Amino acid sequence: MKTPPDLRPVSGRLGILLPGLGAVATTFIAGVEMIRRGLAEPVGSLTQMGTIRVGKRTDATSPRIGDFVPLAPLASVEFGAWDIFPDSAYTAASKAGVLSKEHLALVKDFLEGIHPMKAVFDPGYVKRIDGVNVKTGTSKMHLAEQLMEDIARFKVERGVDRCVAVWCGSTETWRAPTAVHETLEAFEQGLRDSSDDIAPSAIYAYACLRSGVPYANGAPNLSVDFPALHELARRESVPIAGKDFKTGQTLMKTILAPGFKARLLGLDGWYSTNILGNRDGEVLDDPESFKSKEVSKLGVLEHIFQPHLYPKLYGNYSHVVRINYYPPRGDNKEGWDNIDIFGWLNYPMQIKIDFLCRDSILAAPIVLDLALFLDLAQRAGMSGVQEWLSFYFKSPMTAPELYPEHDLFIQLMKLKNTLRWMRGVELITHLGLEYYD
Ligand SMILES: NC(=O)c1ccc[n+]([C@@H]2O[C@H](COP(=O)([O-])OP(=O)(O)OC[C@H]3O[C@@H](n4cnc5c(N)ncnc54)[C@H](O)[C@@H]3O)[C@@H](O)[C@H]2O)c1
Repeated sequence: MKTPPDLRPVSGRLGILLPGLGAVATTFIAGVEMIRRGLAEPVGSLTQMGTIRVGKRTDATSPRIGDFVPLAPLASVEFGAWDIFPDSAYTAASKAGVLSKEHLALVKDFLEGIHPMKAVFDPGYVKRIDGVNVKTGTSKMHLAEQLMEDIARFKVERGVDRCVAVWCGSTETWRAPTAVHETLEAFEQGLRDSSDDIAPSAIYAYACLRSGVPYANGAPNLSVDFPALHELARRESVPIAGKDFKTGQTLMKTILAPGFKARLLGLDGWYSTNILGNRDGEVLDDPESFKSKEVSKLGVLEHIFQPHLYPKLYGNYSHVVRINYYPPRGDNKEGWDNIDIFGWLNYPMQIKIDFLCRDSILAAPIVLDLALFLDLAQRAGMSGVQEWLSFYFKSPMTAPELYPEHDLFIQLMKLKNTLRWMRGVELITHLGLEYYD
């Protein structure tokens, strides 16, 4: 096994940069500030509430993850954002309508102090919205340079030592990678030529990596997931992660499907549909944006069920995913799943799920954990794709020759074992050999 890294201790302040200051980003920022003021609990966050077992079960040692590895304390965090709308974080949060007026009032002063920097935007990549808080430049490379200047200025103005970025911008339309994504050289030439194949989110990712800033992608679009930027991440020794926060229906899928597979229950079909009425839902109402989401949501079952190994159980199931934009529900999504399974002697059974969930409430702790873990990874000298953070994603990024791991429980074990490895303690395999002398 590789020797554990020299973990650089935390010192100074951490900047969390958010391209996209919408429902998820503002729910995250408001929540962190409420937690810092002692007004709320960080429910759903592994870095804040999770524990990790060290040693044998008989040792009864399970420290908090935050005490086991050196994570940036919430008190040391500063926020920065870019958005195509000039609204402050308070106005954006009020429009998003996730948190109540009463909750927002508690941190209004703080949220009003956060104003988004001008965005890099291309309406060809995000349909149905358009804003005025947008940069202009002579080329896409020029826009990337402006983002790098934003990052450098943010660090000086906020007295920040290190930064991490988490893409919380809208889902961009689906585009297959082209030659421009293949090598860093081709990508940089593409930036200079303003290639139409380079999405705004990829320009942010490039600017972050060039600035030594770890980058996680919360949306399903490519952003940082192609060979050219993998190459840049390794060259600059910067960790990257993605894609698409695992919340709502996909979270339920990656909880349930491993259970069916463990018990060798077969699957005839899984139909998922939902209604949601936030701005994300509006953007996803456009078929090309939905295509990005669909690609990301559909892969999950295929990888968990491994039909090539279990053709009789999973060789022939239908998997359908629908998203319906329905304004009255705002951010409070309702998702229905109908699952047709079969058991002993092929007898059919059905499971129905009605999940009245809150998308951004599920996503906000993911943003926090990703930011703190990516900062930790960088201080551990880890670079490139961070597969141990697959736990947080619908469509986990992997090295090119590997398939993604979707099973939430394997993902959690991998995450915790990575933390154990970082600290040089024994990994937990659940073998229990101590009882078989
Ligand atoms: N909420 C969830 O549970 C969840 C789960 C998985 C993924 N996501 C993804 O996270 C992202 C954010 O979701 P949300 O609900 O906050 O959406 P949102 O529409 O409320 O916020 C997105 C923000 O990004 C801004 N934006 C768009 N293009 C931009 C650009 N090029 N530069 C800067 N800002 C830009 C928009 O103006 C908007 O304010 C979406 O891509 C969504 O698909 C969300």
